[in-house]
Order: sequence, then structure tokens, then C-alpha cells
Amino acid sequence: MRVLGIETSCDETAVAIVEAPAGSSPVGRILANVVYSQLTEHRRFGGVVPEIAARAHLERIDGLLTDALAEAKLELGELDGIAATGGPGLIGGVMVGVMTAKALAFAHDKPFLAVNHLEGHALSVRLTEEVAFPYLLLLVSGGHCQLLTVQGPGDYRQLGTTIDDAVGECFDKTAKLLGLGFPGGPAIERIAKDGDTQRFALPRPMWRKRGCDFSFSGLKTAVRQTVEKLPAGDKQAVADLCASFQRTVGDVLVDRCANALELAPMSTLVVAGGVAANGYLRSRLEKVAGEHGARLVAPPVKFCTDNGAMIAWAGIEHLRMGKIDALDFRPRPRWPLDARTSGAGVGSRA
Ligand code: KG4
Ligand code: ZN
Repeated sequence: MRVLGIETSCDETAVAIVEAPAGSSPVGRILANVVYSQLTEHRRFGGVVPEIAARAHLERIDGLLTDALAEAKLELGELDGIAATGGPGLIGGVMVGVMTAKALAFAHDKPFLAVNHLEGHALSVRLTEEVAFPYLLLLVSGGHCQLLTVQGPGDYRQLGTTIDDAVGECFDKTAKLLGLGFPGGPAIERIAKDGDTQRFALPRPMWRKRGCDFSFSGLKTAVRQTVEKLPAGDKQAVADLCASFQRTVGDVLVDRCANALELAPMSTLVVAGGVAANGYLRSRLEKVAGEHGARLVAPPVKFCTDNGAMIAWAGIEHLRMGKIDALDFRPRPRWPLDARTSGAGVGSRA
């Protein structure tokens, strides 16, 4: 079974082709994986500009499709399905991906698979490693911060979510305040390696509170106030603030995951989404999982941030269940994984 996956919900235009062996083996083989990052288009604005993103997706998508098919040495007719992110995300970009996928599916008479971007992240770990359901999922990206139980594809129960900002957004804002560029996560992780994690005492919103919700706006404000007092040109102070900030985020994530592991004990804790690329946070989560008799599993770093392979993989999981979408599917700017929740995303990223 071979599925093409298109991801255009934010600032990465990505196309991949993934093959899954017939039968029950859950791990996929990546035949092609091409990503065009629009970083240079957005960098001077310090964040993603939706209209620029939509136009850039439109300009790049055809070339990336050609590249992916060439890399996989396949023709469109040899595929078994065409998947695209159907939401949530920046709607102009989602429309570009969905319309492209629908057109390909119609022209080549293939199943069209609309994938929830968050489900792409949620299942991404199964693309490269055999991870059985159910598992506990910490989904941490530029637009989301949630804890969920994953019973199977399409079957999610939300334990907690952020009441204000997403954790990736908090990394990005902190980096912007420190003049470290966009996206902020990788820069902060790199600079924090030379810093003192204890130098700055920052607030830990929701820490030691009941439940599994998150909050990051107070931390963001405290970082801004701290930055304003930093002596100009003090590189060590910047490194110390990055390290203290990252440690504070780690404290909060660990505390929330500990609650989740107590409320819904599971043998596997999965961390996914762009922030899951952070090695320091992974090691903190590994420890808390171990303390609760669970193991931590995270996708390889290149599949943490947005990519087409995770969308193709989720498409394969849908196809295996016979879950095919009609060509009148409408892109969804909001699309909660757990239908019982509002799915109100935060910020402008998915
Ligand atoms: O999943 P993703 O690529 O896009 C969304 O769906 O939002 O996540 C992007 C987010 C950005 O906020 C970025 O700063 C963050 O993931 N990120 C990181 C790291 N790499 C990316 N945050 C912390 N440490 C990293 N190494
Ligand atoms: Zn994402």
C-alpha cells in the first residue's frame, strides 16, 4: 500500500510517499520525503504571515510533487491513495493542499484521504517504530499543547490542553525577545546548552495544580520582563535565560505528564509535534515516564516538525480502516482530535 501525503497547514510545503507492507506490520517505508520550508519568506516578519504562506504553497506544490514522484521512482497511477492535511491550520494553505489532493485523486481515480494535522502528529511515531495502542500522547507544537489518550486512529480522549498559549509559540516569542530569530525552539535549545538552568526563577503556570491543563502566558510575560532588565550584549545572561526558560518549560511538562500518567496509566508515553524535537525536554520526559512505569517514545527529529510523511502515514491508517473521504470534503480551520472538545486552536499555527 503506497500513499502520497501533502502537508500545507502552516509554513512548510511538504510532500511524501510512504509504503506500508500488507498485513499487520505497522511500520512504514519512506519512499520520498520532500519539504520546502518557507522560513526566508516569513523570517523578516518574526512569524508566519498567512497570505504569504498560502501563495508560497501554491507556487511550490507542483514542483514538490514532481520531485517526490521522481525520488520514489513512481507514477501517480501506482499509488493507492492521496492524503492531505484537511485542517486545522491556516485555511489558505490547507485549501491549496486539499484542492491539489482532490484533483489528483479525481484524475487518477484514487481514494482521497483528509487527514487531521494533529492526527498526523499523533500517529507519526508509528511510521518508524512499532508502537501499540493505546498510548498517552503529549502533543506539543507551535499551535497546540495537549495531553490525550490515543485508543486508535480517530479515537482520542483529551485529558488537558492549554488555556492560553501553545508551548512552541512560547519558545518562538522568547527567541524573538532575545533576538534569536525564527523559529525559536532550535535556537533556544542550542544556546541553552551553555547556560545555567537555575539562574532565573521564572513562574511555572499550572505547576502542581490538579488536572492536565497548561498555561504559558504568565511565563511569556515573565520572560519579557526579565529580558528588559538584561544588560545589553551580555551573552552569558542570554544563555542562562534560555537554559532557565527551557528548564521551566520542562518542569511544567513533567508535572502535567505525571498527572496524566496517574489519571490514565499507560505503558507508553508518546511525545510528538515540533517541540518534541527538543533533546533536553525529551530527556526530562523520559525520566518522568520511567518513574511511572512507562517508556517514552518520540519520532525521529525530522518527523517531529511538520512533514508530509506523517500525513501519508495517517492516510495509510485510514485506508486500512476503509475510511475514505468524499471529494466534497471542506477544509476545517478548527478540527479537534477529541470531538467532545471545542478544538479552539491558539495562535496562528497548527
Ligand atoms: O509541529 P510544528 O512543526 O508546527 C506546528 O504544527 O505548529 O511545530 C513548530 C514549533 C515551533 O514553535 C518551533 O519553535 C518548535 O516547534 N520547535 C522546537 C524545536 N524545534 C521546533 N521547540 C523547542 N525545541 C526544538 N528543538
Ligand atoms: Zn504541526
